[in-house]
Amino acid sequence: MMNVVQRLHEASRSPISPTHDPDAFPFLIPGDRRLAIVTGGNSGIGYYTSLHLYLHGYVVYVFGRSKSRGYKSITEMKEEAIRIRQSYSPSQSANRHLGELHFMYIDFTDLSLVFLAVEEFKRREKYLHVLVNNAGVMALPFQLTKNKFEIQMQTNYIAPFVLTTKLLPLLERVVEKESQKKSSTTVVCPRIIYLSSVGHNLAFRYFSPKTWFNLRPNILFTWLRYGMAKTAGIHFMKMLALRNPKILCVSVHPGFVMNTNLFSYWTRLPIIGILFWVIFQVFGWMFGVSNEQGALASVRCALDPDLTVEKDNGKYYATGGIESEPSTVANNMDYAARTWIWTVHELSKRKIYIPNDT
Ligand SMILES: NC(=O)c1ccc[n+]([C@@H]2O[C@H](COP(=O)([O-])OP(=O)(O)OC[C@H]3O[C@@H](n4cnc5c(N)ncnc54)[C@H](OP(=O)(O)O)[C@@H]3O)[C@@H](O)[C@H]2O)c1
Repeated sequence: MMNVVQRLHEASRSPISPTHDPDAFPFLIPGDRRLAIVTGGNSGIGYYTSLHLYLHGYVVYVFGRSKSRGYKSITEMKEEAIRIRQSYSPSQSANRHLGELHFMYIDFTDLSLVFLAVEEFKRREKYLHVLVNNAGVMALPFQLTKNKFEIQMQTNYIAPFVLTTKLLPLLERVVEKESQKKSSTTVVCPRIIYLSSVGHNLAFRYFSPKTWFNLRPNILFTWLRYGMAKTAGIHFMKMLALRNPKILCVSVHPGFVMNTNLFSYWTRLPIIGILFWVIFQVFGWMFGVSNEQGALASVRCALDPDLTVEKDNGKYYATGGIESEPSTVANNMDYAARTWIWTVHELSKRKIYIPNDT
C-alpha cells in the first residue's frame, strides 16, 4: 500500500517531461503580434498561463470579475517576468521579448456582461490567436444565475460556450490571414483551450443537462453537477473541432492543484472547513502539482507547434499537457451533439443566438 502511495506521489510530483517545459516552446519574434485571452487569468492556474504567454511575447488579455484583483495580478506578473528574465542568458534575453498584459472585466454569472466584454475586445482587436477558457468554480451550492442557469453550469460551461462562439469570427480571421501566406512560411493555427477536470468522470453516465436543475440533495449532487459541467465542456470542444476544422480545439485536465482558490467555498465553511483544508492539503501533498505545473497543460496546448489541427483537434490533455483519454461519456459524439443542441435551444429561449446555429 505504502508503495502505491509513494509511486503516485513520485509520479504526480516528478518534474514534467522536459519537452513540456514552457521554455521549450517557441518565443514570438518582435513584430509578430499575437493575441491571447485567459479567462480567470488573475489567479491560480490562469495566473501562470497568462504569465507564460506574456513571457513568450503574447498580448494577453486577462478576463476577470474583479478589477482590483485583475490589475494587482498584472502588476505581480510584470514583476515576476522581470525576475525570470534576469535568469536568462544574454542570447536568450536578446531573442525573447515580453508581450503585453491587459485586463478586461467579465462576469460569467451574467451573460450580458459576456457580450459587453466581447464587444469591447472586438473594438480593440481584430484577431484572436489563443483563447483559454480557464475560469471556473467547483462544487458550489445550488443557485440560479441571472440567466436562470445553475451556477456551475453557467460559469463552467454556458458562459465559455457563449464567449467562445461570439469570439469565433476573430479566430477565423486568423485562419483567413494565414491562408494567404506563401506556402513556405509556417502557418499558425488559432487555438481554443477548455479547462476541464479529471472530475468530469464524476458524470458516470450521460445526464441530459436539463436534469441539472433537479438533482437534490445538493451536498451530494453539487459534485455531480461539477462533473457534468466539465463533461459538457469536453463535448463543446469536440463539437467545435468538428465544425471548425482549422481551429485547434482541445480540453485539458491541469492536474490536482490544491493551492488555488477553487476549493475556498469548502475550506471557508465554519468549523468543518478546517477538516476540508487538511484533506485537500494531504491530497495535494500526495498527488498534487504546483500552480505553475498546473498551467503547463494549457501552456503546451497554446504554444506547442507539434500540435496540429489535422491530428490533434478535439483531443484531451492531462497534467503537463500529456495526451490522454476522457471518460467514455465525454468521448461520445452522440452525447456531444445532444449537449450542443440542448445548449443552443436553451440559449435561444433566452434570446441568445449562436452564429450559424439559428
Ligand atoms: N485546481 C485544480 O486542482 C483543478 C483541477 C481540475 C480542473 N481545474 C480547473 O482549472 C480552472 C482554474 O482553476 P484554479 O484551480 O486556478 O482556481 P481559481 O484560482 O479559483 O481560479 C478560477 C478563476 O475563475 C474565475 N471565476 C470564477 N467565477 C467567475 C465568474 N463568475 N466570472 C468570471 N470569472 C470567474 C476566478 O475569479 P476570482 O479570482 O474573481 O474568484 C478565478 O480567476 C477551473 O476551470 C477549474 O475547474 C482545476
